[in-house]
Parts: sequence; C-alpha cells; structure tokens
Amino acid sequence: MLKVAGLFTEYPNERGQIVRAAQDVSFEVPEGKLFTLLGPSGCGKTTTLRSIAGLERPRAGEISVGDRVVYSSARNVFVAPNRRGFGMVFQSYAIWPHMNVFQNAAFPLEVGDRRYSAQEIRDKVLRVLRAVQLDELADREATKLSGGQQQRLALARALVMEPQLLLLDEPLSNLDAKLRERMRFELKRLQRELRITTVYVTHDQSEALALSHSIAVMNEGHIQQIGTPREIYERPRSQFVADFVGTTNFLDGTVMGRGAEPGHFRVRTEFGEVEVRSDDDLRGNDSVVLSVRPEDVELAEARPQGDNVWEARVDQKVFLGEFLDFQVRLGGRILLARSHPSLRTPIGDAIYVKLHPEKCVALKAA
Ligand SMILES: Nc1ncnc2c1ncn2[C@@H]1O[C@H](COP(=O)(O)OP(=O)(O)OP(=O)(O)O)[C@@H](O)[C@H]1O
Ligand SMILES: [Mg+2]
Repeated sequence: MLKVAGLFTEYPNERGQIVRAAQDVSFEVPEGKLFTLLGPSGCGKTTTLRSIAGLERPRAGEISVGDRVVYSSARNVFVAPNRRGFGMVFQSYAIWPHMNVFQNAAFPLEVGDRRYSAQEIRDKVLRVLRAVQLDELADREATKLSGGQQQRLALARALVMEPQLLLLDEPLSNLDAKLRERMRFELKRLQRELRITTVYVTHDQSEALALSHSIAVMNEGHIQQIGTPREIYERPRSQFVADFVGTTNFLDGTVMGRGAEPGHFRVRTEFGEVEVRSDDDLRGNDSVVLSVRPEDVELAEARPQGDNVWEARVDQKVFLGEFLDFQVRLGGRILLARSHPSLRTPIGDAIYVKLHPEKCVALKAA
C-alpha cells in the first residue's frame, strides 16, 4: 500500500554542512498494517515520517500510496502535504485552543470534501473520543486539558477521518506509564479494527514490539533491519539491533566449524565451546559476537541434560517480583540471567548454565 524507495532527506546545518538524516530508506507497508520506525534519538525517524507527509522535500527517492505517486525525484513529482490526505499526529501536536474537545475532533469531518450529517459526525466523534478515553470531557475547552489529554485529542482528530494512511510520531510520549500502556492496547485495537495503514514512530522498543506488524530499526539515517517483532527480537542481524531492542548478553568468540544441524556452528569462547545459530554463512576462524537474551540463559541447581552446559557461580541477584535477575560468573564473564523467582540459589553457590543453540545468535563482529 505505502511504498518508500531509496529515500534520501538531508538538511543543511548552521555550519553549512549536510546532515544526512535519512539515507537510502526503503520499506513497504501492506494495506491495513502497522509499521514502526524504531531507533535512538536523532536517527532520522521523524525526518522519514515528515518526508512521507510531504512536510520535508527529500533529495531523492520515491513515495507512493496505492498506485498514486506522491513524491518522485526521477519523475519530478511532489504532491503538497494537504493534498496527500494522510492523518497525522506529530511529536509536537497542535490542538485548536478556541474549540472544545468535541469540536476539535469533529473539525476534520466538517471541513473535509465529504459531507456528513450531524448525526454521523456525532457518532464518529464519540466513537474516537471513547477510544482515547475523552468522551467524558467532550464539552471541555481544549486549552483546559492536560498534556496527555491534548495528545489523545490529537490522536482522536487524526483517527476520525479514517484516513487511508495514518502517520504517528511518538503519539503516546506525554502519557504516564499506566495510561501509556492502556492507550497502547486501545490504539492497537482501533488500528486493527479500522484497518488503517499506519506508520508509527517511537524510540520505545517495548511499544514497538507490542504494537507493530512489522518494525524497521534505524540508526544514523539508515534502516538496519526490517522484520516482525519476533524476528527483530529473536533473530537480530547486527549487534546494534540486538543491543537496541531488549537486553542481551554479548560474548566474543571464534568460529571453529559447522554444528550438528544446518545453520548451527561451533564457537570457541573464553569459557568453552558453544553450539550456536547464525543466519550468516560463517567460516572457520571468523570472529563473532554471540547475543543471548537473559531469559534464554537457563539456570539450574542440578546439572541439566545435554550439551552447552557449564558450571557457574551466583554473583548477584535482584528480586523484581515476577522474576529474579541473576548475575552469574562463568569463566571471567558475568552473564545476566532472568529466571523464575522460585529459584533460590544463594549468592556464592554453584549453579548450572544451559544455553540452547537456537537462542545463541552468532553475529559477525563489526
Ligand atoms: N530542520 C532541520 N534542520 C537541520 N537538521 C535537522 C532538522 N531536522 C532534523 N535535523 C537533524 O536530522 C537528524 C535526524 O532528526 P530526526 O528528527 O529525524 O530524528 P528522530 O529519529 O526523530 O529523533 P527523536 O527520537 O529525538 O525525535 C538529527 O541529527 C537532527 O538534528
Ligand atoms: Mg523525532
């Protein structure tokens, strides 16, 4: 549905240098799906979104929605933002101060090309206000809303048109943790229900994992990897992605040869030989970095069956209620392991560590 191809957007800075904000950005979003741009501050997420909206003019590339090209450097096409008809909520959202909540949300319906009856407007507006939990405040003046409420109103206003494409830039950033989580579910439900094709921008990895059909992880203007939340989390293709999305243990190693199964390799580390998995075609003597998630470091007081098992020692423990974080010493390394709080091994005691080859991802060292 949305197709972005070879997009380059750049800015001049104060010293006349070029800021390469979006570099060769390409992705596609199928009809009705929610696609997230995820990455650290300054990586080019907002720039990419504003380029799709038409608020920035890229240097090169092509953007199309369905079979309508809205930007093409090669064909010299640039459709003005207000003619693109996308719904938007930006990082700095704007609500209209001289209107109440209901009027703000109804405004796009009243000024749009299509005519709606008063009853239709009422139904549509109340539906979106209910979704963002502002229906009780429909008569409140917009200026008398809290920051988080204003943000939700901006979201309602973008949703009310049921636009072909919805562009959201950190739309939940001003909400407290509890409300943000609730809104996350609401937004997901609403997006799925209305099947609005959405590009969502966030630097919050748990938000991205929770909401998205597909995620693009960005760094320094470039897309590093595109995949489903599970692919991004379980099969990172680079150290940057493994590190940015979730918590992980990195272990240096050297490839010794192929493992027992296709895609498996044997890797020498400072505490011994580990059977691992890799999507790269690794060769003997390649330097690699293993990424192992703390919840995949299996701990047991009795020696588990099978290979990839070592004896370690409990160094630290942190009780977090629903789980217990262990730091265990293995050779000269400290590994972070997340386990069920029922495991009570005291600090200083021996404990066995088991690593499942499928959960040890070998990445080519940078
Ligand atoms: N109008 C501008 N003029 C010059 N440089 C800009 C402009 N807008 C953005 N930049 C620069 O482009 C780069 C990408 O910025 P962008 O706003 O796209 O990042 P972001 O990923 O949205 O970050 P954040 O998570 O902090 O919102 C940054 O280095 C930023 O300083
Ligand atoms: Mg931004």
